[in-house]
Amino acid sequence: MKSLIVYDTKHGASAEVAERIAKVIQGKGGEAELLDLRVKGAAAAPLGAYDAVVLGGPYYMGMWSKRAKAFAARREADLAGKAIGLFAVGSNAELGDKAAIAALPASLRAAVAASAYVGGRLVFRELGSFERFIVKKVSGSEADSSTLDLSKAEALGAELAAIAAAKKALK
Ligand SMILES: Cc1cc2nc3c(=O)[nH]c(=O)nc-3n(C[C@H](O)[C@H](O)[C@H](O)COP(=O)(O)O)c2cc1C
Repeated sequence: MKSLIVYDTKHGASAEVAERIAKVIQGKGGEAELLDLRVKGAAAAPLGAYDAVVLGGPYYMGMWSKRAKAFAARREADLAGKAIGLFAVGSNAELGDKAAIAALPASLRAAVAASAYVGGRLVFRELGSFERFIVKKVSGSEADSSTLDLSKAEALGAELAAIAAAKKALK
């Protein structure tokens, strides 16, 4: 079972989630590789070798990662038939994973086999001045906060590993 964890991140929380998912899959005897969508050309990477693809990234200003959304749209045909996982990172639990799933093309939305909202993290010294201004305006606070729950990433990795293994066994 070979998996690719495709992620976008601005301040690193989504990268940590992706790494944790990969570790869990590897711990179950699967192969897992990471693809950072910030790297030039990453969105065009070949996907043929993978049984499972997890796509994840953060919410900013009410929108799920533009890079993750664009990757799903561009690679829709290449992703067909694979076990698809999704994770969403954000400090506002209201969006959950639903808004991220809604950002996928319809065919992939229906194909998501496992998904998770894993919370988010705000570390003020890592933010730019505009970001600080926005967060302060929205939350009324300048205190660091984290609801990031990596156990949810672990559960997603385990679930997807089981689904992809079952899918492979049926082939
Ligand atoms: C300017 C700004 C806007 C944000 N907007 C949202 C939002 O609309 N919804 C949400 O759930 N989280 C929002 N967040 C929180 C981020 O999603 C959170 O910090 C997340 O952990 C960032 O992930 P990353 O480290 O992978 O970039 C915002 C954060 C900043 C700095």
